[in-house]
Amino acid sequence: MPQRSHPGLDSWCSITPTLITLLCLSAPGGVSLVVPQPSINATVAQNILLSVEYSCRGVATIEWKHVSSWGTTKIVEWKSGNYVNISTVYKDRVNTFENGSIQLLNVGMRDAGYYFITVTEEYGTSTYGTIIVNVYEIIYEDLHFVAVLFAFLAAVSAILICFMWLCNKSLHLFQKTTTHKLTASTTEEIELETIEC
Ligand SMILES: *[C@@H]1O[C@H](CO)[C@@H](O)[C@H](O)[C@H]1NC(C)=O
Ligand SMILES: *[C@@H]1O[C@H](CO)[C@@H](O)[C@H](O)[C@H]1NC(C)=O
Ligand SMILES: *[C@@H]1O[C@H](CO)[C@@H](O)[C@H](O)[C@H]1NC(C)=O
Repeated sequence: MPQRSHPGLDSWCSITPTLITLLCLSAPGGVSLVVPQPSINATVAQNILLSVEYSCRGVATIEWKHVSSWGTTKIVEWKSGNYVNISTVYKDRVNTFENGSIQLLNVGMRDAGYYFITVTEEYGTSTYGTIIVNVYEIIYEDLHFVAVLFAFLAAVSAILICFMWLCNKSLHLFQKTTTHKLTASTTEEIELETIEC
């Protein structure tokens, strides 16, 4: 005699595929976000692109925030085709793109940290993304410049010292000769005077 399955279990088994299909349709349906490069290495004064690509059925609101040890700052918030609201701190430093990306101009050490993007669709569903930005100083070129400057200053001071030494020497020589001449002429004059008298 074949085993009869439990009636409750039976109906659960038939309902499960429908439930999964429903979940799959509703969960990612609202809005999705792709962050191709979640970590960026930049050097001071560079322009960087925080590149993302969102897709959404309706109109989305995009917000970028910067989080570092100095605190959290709102960078920009915009609604596609509606308005762009850039924080005063970031005025003239941020460009926004249709796909949700932003470009940050002339980065400094303070721009290092985490960048959070929130994309919210009309009906309230949100998705999030993070990009880590490291900012490095151009140490090698700095050192190179300092070394060249030092070499230049050393050369200039060496020339100056030589020049001063030469000046001193010739001045000494000049003084000696003039004193000699002076003594000679005075003696002559004295001699002349003695002869005249
Ligand atoms: C950034 O630099 C670190 C080392 O400082 C390296 O491990 C990482 O791969 C770099 N990332 C990129 C995106 O170049
Ligand atoms: C987003 O758009 C910008 C500007 O058109 C582009 O440079 C960038 O590659 C795009 N990002 C992605 C992930 O497609
Ligand atoms: C833009 O931001 C300011 C300050 O956060 C806010 O007062 C203003 O309402 C915002 N404008 C829009 C259109 O969201």
